[in-house]
Amino acid sequence: EKGHFRHFMQKEIFEQPTVVAQTLRSYLRQVDQSLALPQVDFDLSRINRITIVACGTSFYAGMVAKYWIEAFARLPVDIDVASEFRYRNPVLEPGGLALFISQSGETADTLAALRHCKAAGQTIAVVVNVPTSTMAREADLLLPTHAGPEVGVASTKAFTCQLAVLAALAAHLAVKRGRMDREEEMEVVQHLLEVPASLNAALEHDEEIAAMAHHIAQARDVLYLGRGPDYPLALEGALKLKEISYIHAEGYASGEMKHGPIALIDEDVPVIVLAPSGPLFEKTVSNMHEVRARGGKVILISDAEGIAEAGEGCIATIEMSQVHPLIAPLVYAVPVQLLAYHVACLKGTDVDQPRNLAKSVTVE
Ligand code: F6R
Repeated sequence: EKGHFRHFMQKEIFEQPTVVAQTLRSYLRQVDQSLALPQVDFDLSRINRITIVACGTSFYAGMVAKYWIEAFARLPVDIDVASEFRYRNPVLEPGGLALFISQSGETADTLAALRHCKAAGQTIAVVVNVPTSTMAREADLLLPTHAGPEVGVASTKAFTCQLAVLAALAAHLAVKRGRMDREEEMEVVQHLLEVPASLNAALEHDEEIAAMAHHIAQARDVLYLGRGPDYPLALEGALKLKEISYIHAEGYASGEMKHGPIALIDEDVPVIVLAPSGPLFEKTVSNMHEVRARGGKVILISDAEGIAEAGEGCIATIEMSQVHPLIAPLVYAVPVQLLAYHVACLKGTDVDQPRNLAKSVTVE
């Protein structure tokens, strides 16, 4: 039931600190600050390549995972949307792990890709939210998210729980491959344990975000920009806005702006910049200045340090608490979800049942 919430989506956004903590509990051991992934009867240290396949929001979680797995475990990662993967005759060599991410565990294209990889001799890992689903049953390595039933058609809590599992998996692979020592493992665990509190802090921006939704609600087009692991977040922000408010939105890698999309910028196109302070901040800010120089109206989502440096001249800013770059994609998911949610409410759309969409896509 919805309780005191207006929509399931809103309830599910607010459940995130609880369900992410719940999910993390089965992948981390707090007592000795170590990773605790399910036991498997094959040797994960021998995996030589990872192929990630998913659709929609789950695909964006996979894009973040690619970044983490490459950075921590130094394993090459290939990623594709399921509907493309199946028809491009992918090269699947022995020693490969195929990783499927799905809330429902029933998405037809993802399931077909899973079966294709299985037939090609890949080891099958799945991150699913429905433990009784078909994908869960067909996996060699089952990595459940514990988000609880997700009712809103737009995925929210499943996404952050997927990221929590994928971060633990990336670090686990790094440990297995001798790329992460005990001290680094403890550090990663500590950062992950901070996630629920950081999600709570992010949710405190709810009213402030509701108050800025009017900047977006009147727009015809909206752009989202991000870099590195925050680029998939820009894609996710744009997808959330499209699906529930019916406003046209695009996510771009910040550095790609000048290769085309900057031609779209004028006073009528709000640009949402996701830029936690950190190693990629300066570059993203220079892309933001390019936008502003063309009259673009920027909403900057950053932390105190980032906003002090670059917030001036933005039409609005959302000041997040300072978080470690590892967990930023989880924490920055909250403001993009809330923004889409409040814009949709202003527009009066059916938030939980957007037109033309189904919760589980079981046709190819
Ligand atoms: C977006 C959304 C969809 C799903 C996609 C995959 O909010 O919900 O893009 O993420 O249909 O579904 P699952 O994860 O069930 O395979």
